[in-house]
Order: sequence, then C-alpha cells, then structure tokens
Amino acid sequence: MQIARFSKIGFIMAATGSAVGLGNIWKFPYQAGKYGGGAFVLVYLITVLVVGFSIMLTEMLIGYLGRSDTFSNFEKLAPRHKAKWRYAGMQAFSSILIMAFYAVVIAWVLNYIVTSFSLLPSSVAQAKSTFSGMLQSGFFVQFFYLTVTFVIVTAVIARGIKGGIEKLNLVLMPLLFLIIGGMFLYATTFSAFSHAVTFMFRPDFTKLTTTAFVTAVGHAFFTLSLGMGAIMTYSASLQKGQSLVKSSLLIIFFDTLVAILAGLMLFTFLYQYGGKPSAGPGLVFISLPVIFYQMGGVGNFLSIIFFIALAFAAITSAVSLVEPTVQYFMDRNGWKRTKASVIIGLFFYIFGIVVIMSQTIHFSSYLTWGGRNLFSWLDYLTAALLLPLGGLVMSIFVGFIMPKSQVEKVLRPELGFLFNAWYFNIRYIAPILLMVVIVSLLSAQ
Ligand code: TRP
Repeated sequence: MQIARFSKIGFIMAATGSAVGLGNIWKFPYQAGKYGGGAFVLVYLITVLVVGFSIMLTEMLIGYLGRSDTFSNFEKLAPRHKAKWRYAGMQAFSSILIMAFYAVVIAWVLNYIVTSFSLLPSSVAQAKSTFSGMLQSGFFVQFFYLTVTFVIVTAVIARGIKGGIEKLNLVLMPLLFLIIGGMFLYATTFSAFSHAVTFMFRPDFTKLTTTAFVTAVGHAFFTLSLGMGAIMTYSASLQKGQSLVKSSLLIIFFDTLVAILAGLMLFTFLYQYGGKPSAGPGLVFISLPVIFYQMGGVGNFLSIIFFIALAFAAITSAVSLVEPTVQYFMDRNGWKRTKASVIIGLFFYIFGIVVIMSQTIHFSSYLTWGGRNLFSWLDYLTAALLLPLGGLVMSIFVGFIMPKSQVEKVLRPELGFLFNAWYFNIRYIAPILLMVVIVSLLSAQ
C-alpha cells in the first residue's frame, strides 16, 4: 500500500519527468528526420492526443484506484479471476528491460557531457569514429558511466516517493525546461529556423510509408511512458481529488512541447551548418557534436548544456522505469525500500553491462541473434511488442473487465459528455490500433 503521496505539482513534475526523456530529445528528432518530417510529426501528434491521452487516463485510473504495485492493482480491481488478472501487472517488469539499454544510453550522454569540455570533433568522419570507438572498444568508459547512472538512480529511488523521486523532479525538470527553452530561443535567431519549421510542419504524405506510420504511433506510446506500469505506479501515490484529466493533459502538453522544441532546435542547427536531418540514431551523438564544433567557443558551451539537459531528461525517466519493480518487491514481498532499490538496481546494472558488451568487438558475435545485437533486440522488442501490449491489456481491462460504474464514478464528473467518447475509444479504437501496430511492427522485420 502507498503511504507517501506526491504533492499535486510533485506528481505533475514526476510524471512529466518520466515522459520527457531520451525519447523526446534523441529518438523523436531522428525518427522525424528519417521519415521525412511533417507527415510523421502529424501522425505522432494525432496519436498522442487521441490515443495517448485516452490510454494515459486509463493507466492513471488503474493506479489511482488500485493504490498499490501493478500486480496488486489488477488483482484488486478485477471483479473476477483476480489471481489471473494479476499477471497483467507483469508490465512493470518490462520497464526493467527498457532500463537495461536506457541506462547504457545515459552512460553515453554522461560521457559526452565530460568530453564536451575539451575538443569537439571537426568532421563527421571523426565524430563517427569517436562514437563507434566508444561502442566497440570503449567498454570501460561506458562501464564507468553506467556505474555512475546506477548509483544516482538507486540513491534517488532508495529515498522514496517524496524525498527522492519528487525532489529530484522538482529540481531537474525546471532546469531542463530552462535549457531547452533557452537553446530553442537561440535557434530562432538563425536564418535556417524557418527551414526547420517547414520541415517539421509541412506534411509530405508521399513520405508516409506504413513503417513511418507505425513508428510514429509506437513512439507516441514510448514518449508518454505508457504501457509499462510507470505512470500507473506514480498514480498510486496521487492525492485524492487531483484531477486525472487535467494531469494527463498537462503531462502530454509538456512532453510534446519538449519534443517539438528540441526537434526545431536540432533541425535549425543542422540546416544552418549543412548537416542532414535524416542521419538516424547518430543525429545527436555524431552530427550534433560536429555542428557544435563549427560554432566555435559557444559550441562547447551549447554542447555541455545540451548533454546536461539530455542527462536530466533521461535520469528522471530512468527512475520511473525502475520504481514499478521496486514497488512490486516492497508491496508483495515485504522488502524494505533500500533493499529493493539496491537489488533491482544491481539487476539493471549487470544487465546493462551485458548490453554494453553486446556492442563491443570482442563480444558482439556472442550477443547477436538474427542480425540484431542485444541492445537493439531490447529496444525493438519493448517498443514494438511490450509497450503496445501493455496498452492493449489496460484498455481491455478498463473497457471490458472493470465494472463500468466504477470507472464512471471517477471519470464522468471530470470528462462530462466526453466520457462516452473516451470509453468508446478505449474499448474499440485504441485496442484495434494497438493490434495493428503490434502486427505491423513485428512483421516489418
Ligand atoms: N518516456 C521516456 C522517454 O521518452 C521513456 C520511458 C520512461 C518509458 N518510462 C517509461 C517508456 C515507461 C515506456 C514506459 O524517453
């Protein structure tokens, strides 16, 4: 059972901290770039608003009414077959799978903060070799920063909902907004800014392939932290009477804002200095450092604060990826918070070490199956399968299993006449869309 409760603003910041992460500043811009800009952004925005909002509300409702870890929530709220429904709470464990590769990317980001103080790469070729050098032979550098990540995340979680998670987010989120907002304003002074706006907001539907469409929908889930028990676990510590609808809308607003501002800023810099928006996952780690180099002294400064912002965004998300499992072992096995934090922390830490090994020259052949190494398997399986699956299970649970009266009692007063539209959405539209996403992502490979 949850005893500690977030303050109202604490909850908004913590959930926003969960949502705003590597997904917004690293993944969203490179995916938008890769799939042609405008049309991708449009699909993403529509999905976030229509499906993302509905599922977030669904996930919050389960947490708010269940007030416990993910397993106990389903168990408590299922009117029948309680013992079976509790396995729906397994989604909490998938977030640890995300964390195993997420933590490795955080390690890269921390490393990039430090290297930004010295010489930046002067050409794309050089930047590429620095980056792939780190992956292929920089085991110890990655290991070192993974250790730092493990220590930070574990220490925050061990301090609990209020003293750890809420505090962390109340400090880091405003700083993150300040940095991204400031860099965005700086970007608006460049002539290439209008080019970036056109790229992001003028849809070219010929570029909207099925893959682009499905990727956009999948990303909408990832970026809002849906389907893995993160929002559900935070919502278990919601105060009575805090509006679920307003909270969801605010979180979605902030999350989308950061993605759009980060995208506009990155594309402005890219166009101004002759980079390509379609650079792929290397956009932030390869193309961007070269651009910062070309900017001269101010470039080092921008590089440092950019990677600091990215680290803030990622660490607040990482905490939300680990907390659901910690909560599980506290509630169901009676572990003390400190014990749970350290053991679960060690789990993702050791798993993370294997993920790092999967990209090194020495070990990659042992940790690669079907053309994918462990890193990309985890990324792919979680995004393509587990996240939408979590969303699907929740929408079916709230739409068909929970008594309508129980759902209605909380949400009808908040949603008013929109209640029926939301209910219809999570019963029919969202599940169908999610199934389409799962099937096409899995068959695309
Ligand atoms: N939303 C985060 C991002 O955009 C990632 C994340 C954190 C997440 N917690 C999650 C994704 C839970 C899915 C489920 O980087």
